[in-house]
Amino acid sequence: MSRSRPTPTGFGALLLAALLLAVAPSCARDARQAPVPAAEQTGERPPGNAVASAHALATEAGLQIMREGGNAFDAAIATSAVLSVVEPISSGLGGGGFFLLHDARSGRDVFIDARETAPASMDADRYRTADGGFDRDRAENGPWSAGIPGLPAAFVHIAERYGALPLAQSLAPAVRIAEEGFPVYARFARGYQARRAVMERYPGTRSVFLVDGRAPQEGDVFRQPELARTLRLLGERGFDGFYRGDVADKLIAGVNAEGGQWTAGDLAGYRVVEREPIRFRYHGWTVTTAPPPSSGGIAMAQMLQILEPWDLAALDETQRTHLVVESMRRAFRDRTFFLGDPDFVRIPQRTLLSRDYAAGLRATIHPARATPSDLLSGEATPLEDEETTHFSIVDAQGNRAGVTQTVNLLFGSGLVAPGTGVLLNNEMDDFALQPGVPNAFGVMGFEANAPQPGKRPLSSMTPTFLESDDRVAVLGTPGGSRIITMVLLGILGYDAGLDAQAVAALPRYHHQWTPDRISAESGTFSGATVAGLRALGHTVDLPGDRAAGGRGSSHVWGNLQTVLWNRRDGTLTGGSDPRNPVGEAKVEPVAN
Ligand code: DON
Repeated sequence: MSRSRPTPTGFGALLLAALLLAVAPSCARDARQAPVPAAEQTGERPPGNAVASAHALATEAGLQIMREGGNAFDAAIATSAVLSVVEPISSGLGGGGFFLLHDARSGRDVFIDARETAPASMDADRYRTADGGFDRDRAENGPWSAGIPGLPAAFVHIAERYGALPLAQSLAPAVRIAEEGFPVYARFARGYQARRAVMERYPGTRSVFLVDGRAPQEGDVFRQPELARTLRLLGERGFDGFYRGDVADKLIAGVNAEGGQWTAGDLAGYRVVEREPIRFRYHGWTVTTAPPPSSGGIAMAQMLQILEPWDLAALDETQRTHLVVESMRRAFRDRTFFLGDPDFVRIPQRTLLSRDYAAGLRATIHPARATPSDLLSGEATPLEDEETTHFSIVDAQGNRAGVTQTVNLLFGSGLVAPGTGVLLNNEMDDFALQPGVPNAFGVMGFEANAPQPGKRPLSSMTPTFLESDDRVAVLGTPGGSRIITMVLLGILGYDAGLDAQAVAALPRYHHQWTPDRISAESGTFSGATVAGLRALGHTVDLPGDRAAGGRGSSHVWGNLQTVLWNRRDGTLTGGSDPRNPVGEAKVEPVAN
């Protein structure tokens, strides 16, 4: 491929005209089809129960709870709680999450926002160093990095409003595994080593994580008796078992002993919020996904509505990637300025979600040239670490749960409040703690995502439902800001006809407006595509490119877990990301 760029004269003009024709929106597919009759209207049901999660023990717990008569929502509690025990690297009772639920009886979708909140003591000045710089250590480690946990409140709320079983029953598998222990796996041991210096700052963390006085190693049996007690109290006493009384007192004491400032009011005042999901159409699909304080749903709607008129499958890989990347760039630009906690800031949601707005953004895409991002942060985007976790559940009644939960970075804040077994999150780094200063994922923000007491930091977690005439899918993944683009690629994969496992395995690439570069997993693009993208003016950063001056990425990305119910052929299948060897997607047939 020539590296010269098309110009409006001579051969360049011809080339530009040809490319314009090649990628002109085709309108071949009509976006405004009538809504499909929901499965509940036709009386159809899935042929069984399915769970796809990042750990086989969590998948099994969800299936077990459904065998005991629980529905997908009880199973979501069980799976979530077991992940909290076996994946402290990713999520836990000390963190938060988003639960996207579909109730088959009413046909209603609801988004349970169990995002952490900033304590009343939150003040941006806390994250400034003496010389006025940004205190990254405070933002990512220890007491000031932690928000008030949301996951325990989500369990209580979901069990009361949506579950069929008592909370204690749904939590029982997690209690048992916390007590009996589970074998440490490679990612756990590696993650611990990466965070060891921070983890071992705190006595509460040392007493939970050290095995015979040393770092946990693959194959060790890892037991958490204090976490088992906390889970049991939550099951027996509900909200008060965690947010008031003994556990709350210990959480406050543990945080404040390390220099933080939590109060009883911070914990007792925590509430989950039920929100209306974002819903929009893309080709024949209805996409139901995460609203603010997630940035994912709005960004997803923008990207897909920008892309909708193009027949992506008919384009070559370079053109297809160019257009997808340009849609990513534009959505992430808006994320930076407009998105935050909707309870604190006015988000121009109607505009951002409108097809006209998307058409305007589409019109700014040059078919043969990368649009330079306005602003280069000059900061590297870390591309390591697959923390956070997602699971997908469909039950034989047609209920669905798509849940993404997190403690933010590897092992969260590293701080366990002594006596609780609860490893606290470091979600405060998801705020724009300083305007325009990128967070751990290289994304930045301004007023909309500025920290304030009681506010929820902007998230990228994007649990999503897809529905067409014949298919229903639940999907999501960890991956920080790349969650949004991985879910986008997953949706494009389903739209191209891939099955659940192929969607989980899809190669990944990403652009987030700033830094102005495409990053990709190893093997995502052919050499010709990389050359083609560079010829269009894109900076492409590939693993191993560091020597050539790129940032590169040493890791594979994400941990996508998905379930697909095909209503046409009556099959229920799961896809578990092959990048994670301990994950499992499993389907159990049920006679309906
Ligand atoms: O809510 C968010 O967007 C982040 N706290 C998620 C963190 C994450 O996915 C970490 N994985 N790499």
